[in-house]
Amino acid sequence: MDDLDGVVAEALDVFAAAGDPASLEQGKARYLGKAGRLTEALKSLGKLDPAERREAGARINAAKERIEGALAARRDALLEAEFEARLRGEAVDVTLPGRMRARGSVHPVIRTWRRVEDIFRSIGFAVADGPEIETDWYNFTALNQPENHPARSMHDTFYVEGGLLLRTHTSPMQVRYARTHEPPIKVIAPGRTYRVDSDATHSPMFHQVEGLWIDENISFADLKGVYTDFLRRFFETDQLDVRFRPSFFPFTEPSAEIDMAFSSGPLKGRWLEISGSGQVHPQVIRNFGLDPERHVGFAFGSGLERLTMLRYGVGDLRLFFEGDVRFLEQFA
Ligand code: DAH
Repeated sequence: MDDLDGVVAEALDVFAAAGDPASLEQGKARYLGKAGRLTEALKSLGKLDPAERREAGARINAAKERIEGALAARRDALLEAEFEARLRGEAVDVTLPGRMRARGSVHPVIRTWRRVEDIFRSIGFAVADGPEIETDWYNFTALNQPENHPARSMHDTFYVEGGLLLRTHTSPMQVRYARTHEPPIKVIAPGRTYRVDSDATHSPMFHQVEGLWIDENISFADLKGVYTDFLRRFFETDQLDVRFRPSFFPFTEPSAEIDMAFSSGPLKGRWLEISGSGQVHPQVIRNFGLDPERHVGFAFGSGLERLTMLRYGVGDLRLFFEGDVRFLEQFA
């Protein structure tokens, strides 16, 4: 074993070049393994005579110790590097903003829906709910719409199988409710309605609230009082004028469009159409199963989107149905 220093230097180079624990262990086998260079050298000691053997043995052991020392140091260094790399990989930048889960909120139209219910409940109206898939009779015929009325056309109404349709207004609820309740009838029926229509102010699905008050002496004056009071409470202001503009609906006689105007604020002085209304037509009262000589009253049907747009200053109805959180979160 003449060049032990050369073997040690070579081993040190091999260890230094090992970039990971597996190649380091391979390197170790070349020098310290069963068939390693130093193991072979120790085995060959037996051939030497005793004096030489002791001296050579000491040199080999010293070389072995240096190699083992280098191996241990390299092992530690590799472990350390591996640990550092892991720490770097798992590092968390605590200065980054958190990934927050946005909090949901009640949809603005549903807010209006609930508000309308609260206000009418507080003045003694019941709240009713009914089917969105309707029969032709409840949606049109019972409401005195003639057979050839344009609203019945495929153009405006979504028809579904079996001669049914998606209700085009909440008015069929007048008939459903009145036929199952005794007068006095005092009810609102908010809900979803459907028409073949889509632009900045119309959506194929929209919301209405129907109102109906039938008793022996309910007049247009009551309609004016109830509806004006409703609007002032809904918009939380008395700075609001209401006018009833003559109109036509087949299910009311007389009929009126209800307009309102704020007397202050950005919309000051602009008349805005807000609802259809009227005294319920005698034929419709008959379809309720009641006697129009005895039972009279008013009805109205208002758009919930329209009320919502005015309350929050929303200019485009489509915003309500696009599901854009940047819009919706403003109502949270
Ligand atoms: N149903 C009507 C519509 O959708 C609105 C309406 C008008 C309802 C007058 C009424 C009413 O109850 O009396 O256009």
